Amino acid sequence: TYVIALPCVDVKDRACIDECPVDCIYEGERSLYIHPDECVDCGACEPVCPVEAIYYEDDLPEEWQDYYKANVEFFRELGSPGGAARLGPVEADHPLVAALPPQAS
Ligand code: F3S
Ligand code: F3S
Repeated sequence: TYVIALPCVDVKDRACIDECPVDCIYEGERSLYIHPDECVDCGACEPVCPVEAIYYEDDLPEEWQDYYKANVEFFRELGSPGGAARLGPVEADHPLVAALPPQAS
């Protein structure tokens, strides 16, 4: 799966959403999250993020390894909604993201 890491927090450019053929990039309060089971690894989202927040799981920079878990665990209660547009924005973040101080833009 692909993973959205720290640079997305408080930026949420959303360019990635338009590229995803399966609509598996979900919006939280301060960051977006890729559904690990719904993502088909097409990679279309990765180059369009202006802040380079998106990585294939094996290519995550060392300091952002925890974001793999954050993207997976964000969906623990949501399950597999099968489409971000249908679900709409979620008023929550993974604890890892929620605990961050405001990120300078
Ligand atoms: Fe975030 Fe980049 Fe998408 S900032 S919303 S991962 S385009
Ligand atoms: Fe969508 Fe990116 Fe996966 S475009 S299918 S989230 S690699």
